[in-house]
Amino acid sequence: MNTEHQLLGDERQGEATMVEQLSDKLTGKKLYVESYGCQMNFSDSEIVASIMAQAGFETTRNSEEADVILLNTCAIRDNAEQRVRNRLTQFQKDKRENPNKIIGVLGCMAERLKSQLLEEEKLVDLVAGPDAYRDLPNLVHEVGTGQKAVNVLLSREETYAEITPVRLDTNGVSAFISIMRGCDNMCSFCVVPFTRGRERSRDPESIVAEAHDLYNRGYREVTLLGQNVDSYRWNITKKNEIIDAEKETVNFAQLLEKVALVNPGLRIRFSTSHPKDMTDDVLHTMAKYENICEYIHLPVQSGNSDVLHRMNRGYTREWYFDRIDAIRRIMPDCAISTDIIAGFCGETEAEHQDTVSLMQAVKYDFAYMFFYSERPKTLAARKFEDDVPEVEKKRRLTEIIDVQMAHSLISNQKAVGKIHKVLVEGDSRRSSEHQCGRNTQNVMCVFPKKGNKSGDYVNVKVTECTAATLLGEIVE
Ligand code: SAH
Ligand code: SF4
Ligand code: F3S
Repeated sequence: MNTEHQLLGDERQGEATMVEQLSDKLTGKKLYVESYGCQMNFSDSEIVASIMAQAGFETTRNSEEADVILLNTCAIRDNAEQRVRNRLTQFQKDKRENPNKIIGVLGCMAERLKSQLLEEEKLVDLVAGPDAYRDLPNLVHEVGTGQKAVNVLLSREETYAEITPVRLDTNGVSAFISIMRGCDNMCSFCVVPFTRGRERSRDPESIVAEAHDLYNRGYREVTLLGQNVDSYRWNITKKNEIIDAEKETVNFAQLLEKVALVNPGLRIRFSTSHPKDMTDDVLHTMAKYENICEYIHLPVQSGNSDVLHRMNRGYTREWYFDRIDAIRRIMPDCAISTDIIAGFCGETEAEHQDTVSLMQAVKYDFAYMFFYSERPKTLAARKFEDDVPEVEKKRRLTEIIDVQMAHSLISNQKAVGKIHKVLVEGDSRRSSEHQCGRNTQNVMCVFPKKGNKSGDYVNVKVTECTAATLLGEIVE
């Protein structure tokens, strides 16, 4: 039997005691979490680990010894879901050997497919959507009593604001901070508004407190996360007072400033910026504080205004160029990266070439590139035909990738011969004689060790590069 839970704000009080009672039963049990998809999902897994830790679970990196396996999934493209399904089949053997092992699917695929997932994937016991994580201890308990458990309710308020994430797979130097959840933009290709629900911002005080806490624990870089950080907005309401509305909101530029002021030694990054909403105020705040990194991820998706219109992105090619000009004017050294979709519904060769020409004009430092994958229920799936043949989508994507590879190399070549301030993240993956870390533009630098520890800032003179990495040595 499937049961749907209802967990609303006013029920939270009772929830605390319930978790305490449950934690007696669950103490010492082991939890294994695996994350897919965007940074937001990785950040959510840390909230999940925290909620489960309160219920008595210890996290493990070994799925075999786990009592509960949770896959935090992504639904953005069909192949993201296929990866999860393949991974689930790998757990079949575990489940046969230990039928008490609980397997749960969380995140966007859970939200998209709901209880249908239990029918399609027989070994799954539990399905929880992105706003239902406070309910996980109850759901796990329910599975323990022999039922399958589902909670896919989306919330208009949930931000997990006061939950201190348990940092998973951490380098001890950089961490994510979620500043908002959901998305209201309804880009026609995108499943996120359906899987993550309505946009809501998190209390700035809790964000600043989390940044302070991270700094005090040795972290030196935070990445503020939201699907569209530029629409961050917090309305401060004081009881029984009517106050000037303007003074009472915190926008993204103001939030950025608050976090930058936590400590000059704490670097700030953020993602994702939306071209339709990114203001010059944000750029001026970035320019004002040395510890806000000179790097903006500004997904364009397409270089053609008609395609952008069909995508419901809310801007034109010209508007996008205006935003790029603003970045270059206010922060000449700022790195810019993007996301591009090849072969969206109705995209002609000429429209595709507009994407290529936009890339040639902007010369992105980095890009994430995809071919269009139709997602059920989205505006595009309902309104347009997915009519670019797959081979053609892939050909266009290859052309886009080739252009970008050349641009990434040019961008890195420009860094050669210069000195970069790098935050040491740890040993290089390839050699324990080397360390690695990023410069302000978010490019990974590798250099021989010179007695510095993770979390130190070092000056690296770059001597060589590839399209992905800078190589150099520490100088005084
Ligand atoms: N909120 C971010 C994007 C989040 S999804 C923004 O608005 O930019 C990350 C990227 O996945 C998108 O920027 C887009 O390039 C890609 N993407 C989303 N839906 C897709 C789909 N149906 N097919 C292919 N790529 C998609
Ligand atoms: Fe999806 Fe658009 Fe929202 Fe980004 S802004 S998450 S692409 S709907
Ligand atoms: Fe994927 Fe959900 Fe992120 S669909 S990209 S995990 S918001």
